[in-house]
Amino acid sequence: MKLLTNIHQLLVTGDFKKPLAGKAMGAMPFIENAYLLIDEKVIYDYGKMEDLQPQAVDEVIDLTGRVVLPMWCDSHTHLVYAAGRENEFVDRINGLSYEEIANRGGGILNSVKKLRNLSTEALYKDARERLHELITIGTGAIEIKSGYGLSVTDERKMLEVIQLLKKEFDIPIKATLLAAHAIPEEYKTDRDGYIKLIVEEMIPAFAKANLCDFIDIFCEKGYFTVAEMETILQAGANHGLRPKVHLNQFNAIGGIASAVRHKALSVDHLEELADEDIAALQNSDTIATALPGCSYFINIPYTPARRLINANIPVAIATDYNPGSSPSGNMNFTVSQACINLKMTPEEAIVAATINGAFAMGVADSVGSISKGKKANLIITKAISSYNALPYQFGMHQIDSILLNGDKLL
Ligand code: NIG
Ligand code: FE
Repeated sequence: MKLLTNIHQLLVTGDFKKPLAGKAMGAMPFIENAYLLIDEKVIYDYGKMEDLQPQAVDEVIDLTGRVVLPMWCDSHTHLVYAAGRENEFVDRINGLSYEEIANRGGGILNSVKKLRNLSTEALYKDARERLHELITIGTGAIEIKSGYGLSVTDERKMLEVIQLLKKEFDIPIKATLLAAHAIPEEYKTDRDGYIKLIVEEMIPAFAKANLCDFIDIFCEKGYFTVAEMETILQAGANHGLRPKVHLNQFNAIGGIASAVRHKALSVDHLEELADEDIAALQNSDTIATALPGCSYFINIPYTPARRLINANIPVAIATDYNPGSSPSGNMNFTVSQACINLKMTPEEAIVAATINGAFAMGVADSVGSISKGKKANLIITKAISSYNALPYQFGMHQIDSILLNGDKLL
C-alpha cells in the first residue's frame, strides 16, 4: 500500500455513470488537502487529510503544494503513421490551404503512399516511441485510428500495430477502423467499389479478428457523403462496432443527426455547427469532441464549445495527433487551448480531457477519474498555486512525475 499525503488539490474525484454535461462540467469535483491510498495498481481510497485513519503502509509520499489528477484520456488520435508532412506545413506557410494541398495529391493520400511502403515492424517502432513520449507527458489512455492504409492489407497492418501497442503498454488503448478516410487512388473512378470493399471485406474480417473497437468515417465534402456514412455505420453496427465519426470539420453537411441516430459514441471536430446539429445532439448519448490542435495548426475556426456546453451536451477534448492537421499529441497544450481558444473554464477543460475523454472511448470504468478501484494512473504536478496554473502556462507542462498503475514512471 502506498499513501500520498497533503495533496494540495486532488482533481476529478468520484465515480461517474455518464459523461458530465452543462453546469456539471464547470463544477468539477475536487478535494483540497487530500490523501490518496494506492493498493498495487489501483486506487484504494481517498479523502480529506483530516479524515485519514491510521494505516499500515509501505510508503508515504508527501505531496505538499502539488496537484494530483487522473492522467489525460486522449480519445481521438491517428498515432500510427509513416512520416511527418513537414513539406506541406511549409507549403501552407507559403499560402496553400489544407484543401488545396489535398487536391494536388498531398494530404491523406500522401500519408497512404508512405505507409504502404513500411513494414509492420517499422511502423510499430515509431508508434511505440510516440506513445512512450505521450505517457511521459500525462496521457494515460488513448484511442488510435487506422485510415492511412486504405486497402485490406494496409488497414490490417495499421490495426495490427495498434494491437502490438496494446500488448506492450499497460494503459487502455482502443482501435478505430477509419478505412473510409479518403478514396484511395486505385478506386478513384469506382467509389462504390471502395465502399463495398469496406463493408463486405474489411469490417467483417477485422471485427471477427477483434482488431478494432469502433468504426469511423471522414464525412465531409470531397471525402464521404452522409449517405455513404450511413452505409458504413450500418455495416459497423452489424458487426458490433459503435461509431466515432469525423464530422463538420470544414462544412456542416447534415451528418450529425444521422450519426446520433446510429448511436455514435462521439462526433468529432465540429468546427462548423448548425443549430440543427446542436438540436440533434441534445438529449442524445453522443459526446461532442473538440480538437483544438487541428484548428490551431491549419487555421480553421474553433469548435463552438460554449454553445455545446450551454446546450447541456457533454464535451470532450482530444489532440487529433496526426501528421497532416495536428502533429502534436500533447494533451497539456490541448487543455490550455480549450481555455484560451474554446473559452472553456479550467474545470470544464480538465473534465473534458479526463472523464469525458474516457467516456468518449469507452474506458471510463477503469480510468478518467479518482475513484476506488480505478487504475492508479496519476499526474503529480510540481508545486503550483492551483490547478488553474495547468492551462495558464500554455506550451509548458507542470508535471513532476507520473504514477502508472501505481508505480512511478522513470
Ligand atoms: O482528423 N480530417 C480527417 N483526418 C485527419 C487529418 C488527416 C490528415 O491530414 O492526414 C483529421 O484532421
Ligand atoms: Fe482525426
